Amino acid sequence: MKLWGGRFEKSTDGMVDDFHSSITFDQRLYRQDIAGSIAHATMLGEQGIIPQADADCIVEGLKALLADIEAGKVAFALDAEDIHMNVETLLIQRIGQAGKRLHTGRSRNDQVALDCRMYVKDVSLEAVDLLSALMTALLNTAEQHTRTIMPGYTHMQKAQPITLGHHLCAYVEMFRRDIGRFQAAHRAADAMPLGSGALAGTTYPLNRARVQELLGFTSLTRNSLDGVSDRDFVLDYLYACSVTMMHLSRFCEELILWNTHEFQFVEMDDGYSTGSSIMPQKKNPDMAELVRGKTGRVYGDLTALFTTMKGLPLAYNKDMQEDKEALFDARDTLVKCLSVFTGMFKTLRFKAENMKKGASGGFTNATDAADYLVKKGLPFREAHEVLGRMVLSCIKEDRALLDLSLEEMRAFCPLFAPDVYDALSLETCVNLRGVPGGPAPAMVAETIADNRAFLSAL
Ligand code: ARG
Repeated sequence: MKLWGGRFEKSTDGMVDDFHSSITFDQRLYRQDIAGSIAHATMLGEQGIIPQADADCIVEGLKALLADIEAGKVAFALDAEDIHMNVETLLIQRIGQAGKRLHTGRSRNDQVALDCRMYVKDVSLEAVDLLSALMTALLNTAEQHTRTIMPGYTHMQKAQPITLGHHLCAYVEMFRRDIGRFQAAHRAADAMPLGSGALAGTTYPLNRARVQELLGFTSLTRNSLDGVSDRDFVLDYLYACSVTMMHLSRFCEELILWNTHEFQFVEMDDGYSTGSSIMPQKKNPDMAELVRGKTGRVYGDLTALFTTMKGLPLAYNKDMQEDKEALFDARDTLVKCLSVFTGMFKTLRFKAENMKKGASGGFTNATDAADYLVKKGLPFREAHEVLGRMVLSCIKEDRALLDLSLEEMRAFCPLFAPDVYDALSLETCVNLRGVPGGPAPAMVAETIADNRAFLSAL
């Protein structure tokens, strides 16, 4: 018989258990569920709401059950619906009468809210750990490449020279903000909902603060209706996952491009590439493509839960059970993608020669040439115009700016002097961009240090 079977005259239709049971996926919450029940029973005993001997028996029984689940000795039952009723049923089977007192002053509605909050707290910290491992890998590589010149792009057109270190540090900033988003999701989840009951609290003299303390929550939820129907913290986590995936996806897109024969800025390690079943020469960046591809799936998880929640009246509705598969799928996808990406990144081989060559073509120093004339007294607009004409003429003759003789340069503007050659070298172009946040090696070294300090303070 179901735990709630008293009011029913007929058992559920054959299709129903399969349709509404969540045990196939929410069993992964067993640890949170048992920890929550241990805290609840402890408090019930302390408050004299149930006999202390029963509370002790429940706590012991739950600990033994946890050990058996971890040891793979427990089979969950589909007709016990979800992890909450499976745990309760198993407990009653094991300890008898005392187990029937566990659910006093509690509903599955506040119980599932509690389990989900504990889970989101755990996986938010897990994401912070994975992101900081990735940031460390990026910082280590960036540190070795604060002077490795490469072309920076806008509109996928060569724009100005930067360094590989500077480029990698752009991603460091993105992942640092992602850490902030996971910390925010953790904060949102960090309120203890037990005591909300089904929706209207309970008449038992529960000590909510004690349960909060036992489970390590920072605060209590403040409204019992909201306590059981709030899933904002799941959305916050899914949003943080989505933004992180978007960042990984952009990075993958660049690595895929850099790994092409046309670019040859990087070579992916064999360990992170795959071959073709027909074309013997192929070595494909499948891992990067899959991370990019899985981004859509995580957006889907976020959109799915947003859509589930948008029409729900207060308080709990069974629709909300749909939160879990989205949450678990996003978490699993994120963890796999961050782990694989970090491994792939650490084994990349950067081809500094080709990057430098890439930065040398395409007039990436044209802005600096204009700035040179400005420093000699010409207004910027006029300098821009002079350089435009010089670039046009070079394109027609298939030459670079630095291929022009001083004589030829002076024909465009008499302010050019012998120091122009030094001023327009790619190294000078980069080194002079010393504004905070700029690509000058000293500046990049500073942001690397700042990010390392951020990580060690986590
Ligand atoms: N399995 C349910 C869920 O995940 C637990 C809460 C069920 N509550 C209820 N009154 N049916 O949402």
